[in-house]
Amino acid sequence: MFVIKSKSEEMTRIVGRTLGKNLPPGIVIALNGELGAGKTVFARGVAEGLGVAGIVNSPSYVIMNLYRGRMELYHFDFYRLEEEEELQELGLDEYFYAEGVTLIEWAGKFPGVLPPTRLEIEIVKDYEENSRILYFKPLGDLEGFLIEELKKVAAPGN
Ligand SMILES: Nc1ncnc2c1ncn2[C@@H]1O[C@H](COP(=O)(O)OP(=O)(O)OP(=O)(O)O)[C@@H](O)[C@H]1O
Ligand SMILES: [Mg+2]
Repeated sequence: MFVIKSKSEEMTRIVGRTLGKNLPPGIVIALNGELGAGKTVFARGVAEGLGVAGIVNSPSYVIMNLYRGRMELYHFDFYRLEEEEELQELGLDEYFYAEGVTLIEWAGKFPGVLPPTRLEIEIVKDYEENSRILYFKPLGDLEGFLIEELKKVAAPGN
């Protein structure tokens, strides 16, 4: 596990962007954290790092938004989903095992549909208003996946 403290929305976006610049094809990012934790802020950073032009918002009503950058980005949000079946109908594996990057807000709501190899990220609100703690947990074949650039962002003084 790897931990970064973010002191501002801007920093969360930059952490996301740094990650986005360094992602391998086909990676699945399971993003968790309470309402307003900063998942969408982080997702915007990832999109930026992937070279996506345009505005990234939570795909609340359509379940998934597709963006084109250096690689495709499949941005899911499970928040409003009630049944796991709705996801099965979507054919999730087509995204999970595609060349693009999958990022899922509220992924923890349906852990059973997630692939065993994924990057788990949890954003936790800190006691200070604009502070967040970001926990990175690479699972499965991603074990040990830890980007040097992210370590630099996390270095003391940043
Ligand atoms: N360090 C920080 N990192 C990220 N966001 C922060 C930070 N400090 C304050 N914020 C604020 O917290 C809010 C995060 O909103 P965001 O939409 O990204 O949350 P979310 O986790 O996607 O919520 P939801 O579950 O509703 O989708 C924004 O208003 C942002 O300005
Ligand atoms: Mg969101």
